[in-house]
Amino acid sequence: MVFAFAQGCSSSVQEQISYCALQASVTLSGIPSEGMMPHSVDSGSDQWQYVVPGRWTSGFWPGELWYLYEGTGDVCWKEEALKATAQMLPVAYETPHSHDVGFMMTPSLGNAYRLTGNDSYLEAMESAADSLSTLYNPNVGTFLSWPGMVQKMDWPHNTIIDNMLNLELLFQVAACCDRPDLYDIAFRHAETTMDHQFREDGSTCHVVVYDPVTGEELAKHTHQGWKDGSMWARGQAWAVYGFTMAYRFTRDERFLQTAVRAAETYLNRLPADGIPFWDFDAGEQLEDQPKDASAAAIVASALLELQGYLPASESKKYRSEAEKTLRILSAAPYRAGGQCSAFLLHSTGHMPNGNEVDASLSYADYYYLEALIRLKRLQKGNAVI
Ligand code: GLY
Repeated sequence: MVFAFAQGCSSSVQEQISYCALQASVTLSGIPSEGMMPHSVDSGSDQWQYVVPGRWTSGFWPGELWYLYEGTGDVCWKEEALKATAQMLPVAYETPHSHDVGFMMTPSLGNAYRLTGNDSYLEAMESAADSLSTLYNPNVGTFLSWPGMVQKMDWPHNTIIDNMLNLELLFQVAACCDRPDLYDIAFRHAETTMDHQFREDGSTCHVVVYDPVTGEELAKHTHQGWKDGSMWARGQAWAVYGFTMAYRFTRDERFLQTAVRAAETYLNRLPADGIPFWDFDAGEQLEDQPKDASAAAIVASALLELQGYLPASESKKYRSEAEKTLRILSAAPYRAGGQCSAFLLHSTGHMPNGNEVDASLSYADYYYLEALIRLKRLQKGNAVI
């Protein structure tokens, strides 16, 4: 392993993957004990904050290690990925505290299963999918995202746009384990979200609250955005990614059109430098607001998948937008090399709470690396997924 910060900016996709590997080798050498997962680096710091398995971001570090193995071919990354993924396995057998099961399982166990074919990962993923399904409410047709907010906020059945990402676990287990029941509830969740979470202009609201008995929509709110009617950048990114992924598994044209609508709304409102502020509507002095590079990385990765489902003209546009975003993220001021061992700077986790503002975040790094891997596959003429 190399113990140095990468500096400067290089141009090819493989060079960017090598940069990620160099940065990650520094991160790896600083992990204080087994099972601590790098989560964030505060603005101006070079010190990682860690989370334990079971926190929503805990699967991203193992996921990065799997992508580094795939992107470099170096088996030392596989060894590290196996060790980090082993720490996530018990989570698959726990009672879920929230919808975040898929966020934790897909990057870690999902990539582990994809790259090793080891059935024990799939067994664990099926257990996790079954746990997640206990949060499904058939009266509403969505999963309860935050059980803790039922009492705290008086949101009796709440569903957040982020929840779309958890469907990947369900769809994948449904396909690999012959579980049409899991496919059906994931499909229904996507349908209900499509009908309730979008506004006329193609933007998404963060939280929809439903009556758990009648299924009626009670209110639309935000939790991490600026206000109830604003477009929280990462929420919109989850919508682009989530509906693109839902189309991958279902081939339902409505989901494809919903992904395109979410992407168009996001792209049309981007500021000049191509990276969104943390919320597209955050106040009059928008140019003074912190950025969210994580949203940009998520959308870049999603667009590289989305372009593969569209006719040539649209496909070209989305691929070009994704490449442009990756070029921007791979240079100053977004490249973290020389400042800390994350891949990227300038993401925002939870602005209203003042947490992780203008920080480095493990999920920004994960989706940035995923996008690089997807672009590399495309450049080689391989399938993106
Ligand atoms: N899913 C939590 C977030 O995007 O911050």
